[in-house]
Amino acid sequence: MSSESTQGTTTLQDAPVILGHRHLLGLRGWSRPEIAHVLATAREFRDVLSRPIRRVPTLRGVTVVNLFFEASTRTRISFELAEKRLSADTVNFTASGSSVSKGETLKDTARNIEAMKIDVVVIRHASPGAPHFLTRCVDAVVINAGDGAHEHPTQGLLDLLTITDHFPEVRGRRISIIGDITHSRVARSNLYGLTAMGAEVTLCGPPTLIPPGIEGLVESGSVRVTHRLDEALDGCDVAMALRIQLERLGRQLFPSLREYHERFGIRMEHLERYKDLLVMHPGPVNRGVELAGDVVDHERAVILDQVTNGVAVRMAVLFLLSGGTAEA
Ligand code: CP
Repeated sequence: MSSESTQGTTTLQDAPVILGHRHLLGLRGWSRPEIAHVLATAREFRDVLSRPIRRVPTLRGVTVVNLFFEASTRTRISFELAEKRLSADTVNFTASGSSVSKGETLKDTARNIEAMKIDVVVIRHASPGAPHFLTRCVDAVVINAGDGAHEHPTQGLLDLLTITDHFPEVRGRRISIIGDITHSRVARSNLYGLTAMGAEVTLCGPPTLIPPGIEGLVESGSVRVTHRLDEALDGCDVAMALRIQLERLGRQLFPSLREYHERFGIRMEHLERYKDLLVMHPGPVNRGVELAGDVVDHERAVILDQVTNGVAVRMAVLFLLSGGTAEA
């Protein structure tokens, strides 16, 4: 079976794709076969996670440090779980309570940590490009767990895995990303990942939250922009709502949260009108803003499936970037 298969039966031994990347800094530049290989590997790890003993010795002897300079619930717990399930040794770092509060630079923090013989660094940072900078300071493999408004590649991969659970072939599927595109690293990683896999992407939100010319970020011509929610949902397979990032807005970019919900929030009336529509959200959700509360809890909202898939995807990324080629 080809490594491009999106079915769940591909084994690692059947998948000869070699990733052309030492680090995972973003999904920009990742090819369809590379992404499909990560997803196929994640499906195998998902099988591991459904066994009575959810642990494999795959990364025994590998040491991973989780450097979180910014708040996180899902990504951080999910990386920690993925590392434990793979039997890696893990160290957790948060900026508060560390020497960062005494003025230590990112470079010095990273080099001091690496001096303790670290193999992989997982980093979340408020500054776009912090993971790229880190690759120039340390020899360890670097995985971006979200850098400012730039990229969040493991979120893009887990979103793709969730989509392929419902639509095994992503090519030609219509995915709408709705909300604060300007400040969203999730939007960018999904834009690169989805278009690499052949999806048609619609970006929807108020003009103040969509950067002019964003369609040009990808060359495929498969991205369009609309400021009307109904245009984004009509004929759409998956609606991906994004969190309004009040902490990053800095100024008033739309009149009120209530008005935002009325114009761009997905409500029960949309699920009733678009009968097959799946709803995704990377979390954390502002209930009653991006999604009505009853939509969050609806069976066609696959938000918790996204979270579950995050562990398997992060296991796959850790495994493949640590040089893994064997069967899980
Ligand atoms: N989706 C996501 O990145 O969530 P956290 O900020 O909780 O990690």
